[in-house]
Amino acid sequence: MTAGSSAPIGVFDSGIGGLTVAHAIIQHLPNERIIYFGDTARVPYGPKSPDTVRRYSREIAGFLVAQGVKTIVVACNTATAHALPTLQEEWEVPVIGVVEPGARAAVNATRSGHVGVIGTAGTIKSGAYERALRALRPSLRVTARACPLFVPLVEEGWVDHDVTRMVAREYLEPLREAEVDALVLGCTHYPLLKTLLAEVLGDDVRLIDSAEETARETSRILRERGLEAPASAAPVGGHRFFASDDPLQFLQLGQRFLGDVIEGVQVQTLG
Ligand code: DGL
Repeated sequence: MTAGSSAPIGVFDSGIGGLTVAHAIIQHLPNERIIYFGDTARVPYGPKSPDTVRRYSREIAGFLVAQGVKTIVVACNTATAHALPTLQEEWEVPVIGVVEPGARAAVNATRSGHVGVIGTAGTIKSGAYERALRALRPSLRVTARACPLFVPLVEEGWVDHDVTRMVAREYLEPLREAEVDALVLGCTHYPLLKTLLAEVLGDDVRLIDSAEETARETSRILRERGLEAPASAAPVGGHRFFASDDPLQFLQLGQRFLGDVIEGVQVQTLG
């Protein structure tokens, strides 16, 4: 294992969405350095088969381990849903997904015991959230819905747009009717729609963003394994970003999530 407390944390996503998780990790763990990989050449993962998403995820994890990361955070719900157990078996470094932390936050938030989950087609079809939620509280009622149009709408920057509002009303109607009181935003892009989704669902529904909880989980695992970075290693702009396609586009979109924490983007093709 290439480890050591000052080694970086590897974070990956199908594209830029996982930067919401990277952002939370940077906030919670200011002494840590991140190596982020966004598979922008092969995004979206949402509509792809489990086998394909697993293959892509294994390639990225291999790349991150070769960079000397001490842990891998799978900051993509679809990749977590399809590939987490495979990656955990394959690598000695701890591999952390976003589904379990999101499910835990939802269980803590619900009062009625009826939780909604939204995500890509792949994530919802996998049933990963239902399993994680029921493992935590078997009596929980879960209503899940795939919202495939949300990703392209966010990528288009239409986070406060009437078209998105209309799509959200259509997608969320069954969840409103089912009267869920907590909704897991089971996709990296959805936190950017929080304001609009809250408007459509009303104040009684708590929106669960797994990024915060994933950062806490990362912190806990590093602490347990003695892998935390010493305070003296505090990085100033020491994070590195890789994309498998056009770095300029990644930089521009990424700055929406992370501001000038992204100083530059390197291209790395895989597969
Ligand atoms: N990152 C993906 C997820 O969280 C959303 C984008 C995609 O479909 O690749 O599920």
